[in-house]
Amino acid sequence: MCGIVGYVGHREASGFLLEGLRRLEYRGYDSAGVAIADQAGHVSICKTTGRIERLASALAGSPLHGSIGIGHTRWATHGAATEGNAHPHVGGEHVVTICHNGVIENYQQLKSRLESEGYVFQSATDTEVIAHLVTECLEKECVDEEGKDSQEPYASLVTAVKAALSQLRGTYGLVLMFRDYPGVILAARLGSPLVLGIGDDEHFIASDASPLAGYADKIVYLSDHQIAVVTADSVQVTHRDHGDVRHSVESLQVKTPAVDLGGYSHYMLKEIYEQPESLKNAMRGRLTEDDATAMFGGLNLTPQQLGGVKRIILTACGTSWHAALLGEYLIEEFARIPVEVEYASELRYRNPPVDPGTLVFAISQSGETADTLGAIREMKRKGHRTLAICNVVGSSIAQEADGGVYLHAGPEIGVASTKAYTSQCMVLALLALYFGRMRHLSVDAGMRIINAFHALPSKVRAALQTEEECKRIAAKYCHANNFLYLGRQYNFPTALEGALKLKEISYIHAEGYPAAEMKHGPIALVDESTPSVFIVPQGFVYDKVMSNIEEVKARGGPVIAVVEHGDTRVAELADDVISVPSVEEFVQPIVSTIPLQLLSYHIALMRGCDVDKPRNLAKSVTVE
Ligand code: AGP
Repeated sequence: MCGIVGYVGHREASGFLLEGLRRLEYRGYDSAGVAIADQAGHVSICKTTGRIERLASALAGSPLHGSIGIGHTRWATHGAATEGNAHPHVGGEHVVTICHNGVIENYQQLKSRLESEGYVFQSATDTEVIAHLVTECLEKECVDEEGKDSQEPYASLVTAVKAALSQLRGTYGLVLMFRDYPGVILAARLGSPLVLGIGDDEHFIASDASPLAGYADKIVYLSDHQIAVVTADSVQVTHRDHGDVRHSVESLQVKTPAVDLGGYSHYMLKEIYEQPESLKNAMRGRLTEDDATAMFGGLNLTPQQLGGVKRIILTACGTSWHAALLGEYLIEEFARIPVEVEYASELRYRNPPVDPGTLVFAISQSGETADTLGAIREMKRKGHRTLAICNVVGSSIAQEADGGVYLHAGPEIGVASTKAYTSQCMVLALLALYFGRMRHLSVDAGMRIINAFHALPSKVRAALQTEEECKRIAAKYCHANNFLYLGRQYNFPTALEGALKLKEISYIHAEGYPAAEMKHGPIALVDESTPSVFIVPQGFVYDKVMSNIEEVKARGGPVIAVVEHGDTRVAELADDVISVPSVEEFVQPIVSTIPLQLLSYHIALMRGCDVDKPRNLAKSVTVE
């Protein structure tokens, strides 16, 4: 979703701005732009729709010189994806130039008032009201006495920006440049992340840490309601209500991203193939044979607190929600703790009775998903302990939670989550073992689980060998308009995830169901042109799923089945079979997911879709 960059220092700003925007591409966007001020303070803007490379070509044709600038990738919320709606936006006679992430909920009222006062709007965005509001506050000198009298060179700017922000309802990550103050950028945040990179006589601003790698080795995470005044040689942070604050400077953990595809044609494929390694990384140092359990460094809870957990809530969105669902099955099975899985977007506005002794886990690859962040904030407000399972180190959710577990899956660039999903499943399986061993699970049972975990990366590597078969099946069905994905028990989440992967990147309508639920409605969709993908590993529901396959075949529906090596029964019924290695039932969903990822990938490719950047989607959904 939208990304922000900013630079003030001694080099040409355009270099960092473009590179930073490229590194934020993964978040998803539909247009981009930069504003750069020259030595005389004159601000020029360049904006394009489409990919960053179009912006880069436009800038190559008409370069913008200057050592201070801001840039943005926009994912349309208010107003179509046009050049006019792309950021930066200006207020008044170029008094202020801004880029904004987030949503201003009361923009319509503010816009009407500003228009009645003569401000002319150039775009259909909610952002433009901020530009005009700041201009109004600067021009009308909504500057309190303290601001006017202050010796601080930018005090009146800060006061005007505070006055403008106090009129907004919604969320913002905001960078502002000023016509009459050429050497400074202001950065403000409420509900949408912003970080500052500290260099030598230069400073960088970004909406997450990834653009900073290789440019700065120190980072400042702005908190809500903070406003930073950033010049080439200084950073001053002030709180909306409490005045100046001491900001803490941390070392930047993010390494320069491996942007090359490593010989793969897409990031998604690369990330699918990274799974044996990412699973090892999720487990590394977290299993102890001595106690036949898992261990975690960052939960920040005493053994007494953990022993006293009576209920667990897992909250997430999208693919992470599917991982949570598997987590529910595993934790309840191994640890006998009641678990509920909540859509974060629902939980944040619901008011469920939650007893003391409830532990809330937020699961998020990006750690920036607005709804998931909103949900844990709401749970924290009510006094519950919150833990994060995130991939991105230092992300907002990781920081807000009381503790947590990182996936260590490495950067996931493809918008469709693959390796982060299997790592989330892995971490939840480790937690299930951990809670289980604190309760009734025996040493023997613990060791059996650990052995299954250790075997998993090589089984996943073997499952990747199904690619040619997936490609063949993709060619057969890539023109279908509807798909069903069906699985039971541990593989119900696998069915949901398989369906989501297909629809995200190939735009084919696909639905996932518990296989037996099919009879209660979805079976009406079955015909010769609607393939059903069944996940049918060995296990206690095997025969039940076989009956569900019969039901589809009886209605002429084509069946693609994911089975375990050695299975011969399913092949007698199914039209196409993909065979994966046998593993313990509780880790089978991780293995079975691999061919579903590959199938989606090849179908999308054959339909000519942009696999890594599917239409309308953002990698990190930072608005609600
Ligand atoms: C995954 O393929 C999707 N792009 C999407 O559903 C994603 O899982 C969801 O937006 C949640 O993201 P998060 O894990 O970063 O919070």
